[in-house]
Amino acid sequence: MAYIDWKDDFSVNIKQFDNEHKNIVNMLNSLHEAMKLGKGRDSLAPLFDKSLNYAKEHFVNEEKLMQKSAYPDFEAHRKEHLKFISCIDDFKKEVNTPQGVLLSSKVMNFLKDWLINHIGKMDKGYSKHMNSKGIF
Ligand code: FEO
Repeated sequence: MAYIDWKDDFSVNIKQFDNEHKNIVNMLNSLHEAMKLGKGRDSLAPLFDKSLNYAKEHFVNEEKLMQKSAYPDFEAHRKEHLKFISCIDDFKKEVNTPQGVLLSSKVMNFLKDWLINHIGKMDKGYSKHMNSKGIF
């Protein structure tokens, strides 16, 4: 059984972005599995690569559409995306330090928070705007 299942509550009502957001759920589930096996810390380097690839692809896609559709909250949203990248960069530096032993839980909480508060709130904030422009 997965640690977190995708649910309709997370949907932003734009198919491509829902599919991209599912990567965060997958990353949470992989990390949870690794932690159960006592391999949380070992799983972090590939997880950070995945997170940064996700950011590179998905944030660019969202930001392009926000700009194209003149989304009023674009700047604030973009700042949050930059914060995500900066947090992952900080985690990457921490993984091989003594604090790295506690990093798996910290990353787990960070990704959960991203799912609930960024995807579940901030991303959902653009749904109406995009849908009103015929973007689904
Ligand atoms: Fe789906 Fe704003 O990240």
